[in-house]
Amino acid sequence: MDFLELVKEARTCRRFDEAAELSEECLSWLVDCARLTPCAKNQQALRYVALKSAEARAALFPCLGWAGALPEWKGPKEGERPGGYLVVCLEGGSRELARIDMGIAGQTIQLAAQSRGLAACMILSFNAEKVARVLELPEGVEPLLVIALGKPVEVRRIVPVPADGSLKYWRDEEQVHYVPKRALSDILLGIK
Ligand SMILES: Cc1cc2nc3c(=O)[nH]c(=O)nc-3n(C[C@H](O)[C@H](O)[C@H](O)COP(=O)(O)O)c2cc1C
Repeated sequence: MDFLELVKEARTCRRFDEAAELSEECLSWLVDCARLTPCAKNQQALRYVALKSAEARAALFPCLGWAGALPEWKGPKEGERPGGYLVVCLEGGSRELARIDMGIAGQTIQLAAQSRGLAACMILSFNAEKVARVLELPEGVEPLLVIALGKPVEVRRIVPVPADGSLKYWRDEEQVHYVPKRALSDILLGIK
């Protein structure tokens, strides 16, 4: 697939086929993709915890905040929750640099998942203390980012930014999810 097409397809997804549990092979392959990404000073301070069992997923789910722009929606209902999670954690190293590394790792995981027909949602809205407890993280390891993963059941579409300039995503009556993206001509300030 053309790389731009892969990037377009890899939209955030928040509704999944919950019965489609991610395999151990797939979760460790995703971490392997992240392992090889660039990182500041090559510090490699990111660690990963993978969750696949129904029990582990059920324990993590209440710690997460979904779709802040859709306050009336309380997150995916039972049956549409993620089939697995990766939690990106920090062990040692610079937190400031690690948060940049985390974004690079997160998008690599999201694209890698898309290349296998899976979808992802990066989640920063979580209670770090609760997540650390649920994951039984050892002293000195803190969660930075949760990545929900699974077989998508949500239709997501890119649309141009509307005339009022709002960047809020929205859903129609059929629950199709629309995400506005600025035009290339609005963000590419120049080619000299
Ligand atoms: C760093 C980061 C943190 C995010 N945190 C959350 C979150 O806490 N909850 C959520 O539902 N979506 C979260 N998202 C998903 C964004 O809302 C989503 O990327 C945005 O709406 C654009 O949609 P797109 O990914 O399809 O382009 C996060 C995305 C990123 C990159």
